[in-house]
Amino acid sequence: MLFGGHETTATTIHFFCFMMALYPEYQELCRKEIDEAFDNPLQYSNGTLTYDALPNLKYVERCLLETLRLYPSGFAFMRNLKKNLIFDYEGKNVEVPSGTHIIIGAFAIQRSEKYYPNPEVFDPDRFLPEECAKRNPYTYLPFSAGPRGCIGYKFGMNEMKTIVAYMLRNFELTTTDKLNDVTLLPNITLTPERGYNFRFNKRSL
Ligand code: HEM
Repeated sequence: MLFGGHETTATTIHFFCFMMALYPEYQELCRKEIDEAFDNPLQYSNGTLTYDALPNLKYVERCLLETLRLYPSGFAFMRNLKKNLIFDYEGKNVEVPSGTHIIIGAFAIQRSEKYYPNPEVFDPDRFLPEECAKRNPYTYLPFSAGPRGCIGYKFGMNEMKTIVAYMLRNFELTTTDKLNDVTLLPNITLTPERGYNFRFNKRSL
């Protein structure tokens, strides 16, 4: 629980900050939504963002989901086949026998041109409901899927929304790093080779 819930959310917030610093126009759209929440007494009271604010942070959510598409901390996971797996590979049926250990590469699937046009481009609108409806749900696997999928999905999303809401409410983020300055490492979770450089400029509220 501690490992599954800590490293994943921390890394995702780090990548999210990098995306927001790289794309100030998306950062501003998130901030607009966050400011609305902080300025609403039903969503911010006694100095605290309330639980009611979280479902309204829809643009922030789309940016987090798009961050997880490009940077899934659980970039691959393994399964042991309980029955033969038959799938189509370039027009041919390929059969993998029961008992085989397979690796499902979420990183590769989520950056495939086949499912995500211009896959390297950060575009939160890929997660508009009408866009999601066009895709096979198994093309998006940052939380895995099925009975052994992430049990902390909703909690993790709420946790990340809360943290980034406070960050973007109070600070404007910039970076001197470019998109490909930092190599991604396939450690236990997907990790940048070094931390990205950020400047946090305090907002005057
Ligand atoms: C950005 C946030 C998170 C991501 C990307 C993430 C990703 C994942 C993935 C990919 C798996 C499945 C691994 C597999 O299928 O082999 C998983 C499982 C799991 N996650 Fe998360 N997770 C996140 C947050 C959390 C949080 C906040 C908690 C708990 C508080 C949590 C607890 C767990 C546990 C206990 C499992 C194992 C479930 C099982 O084996 O039945 N995760 N997570």
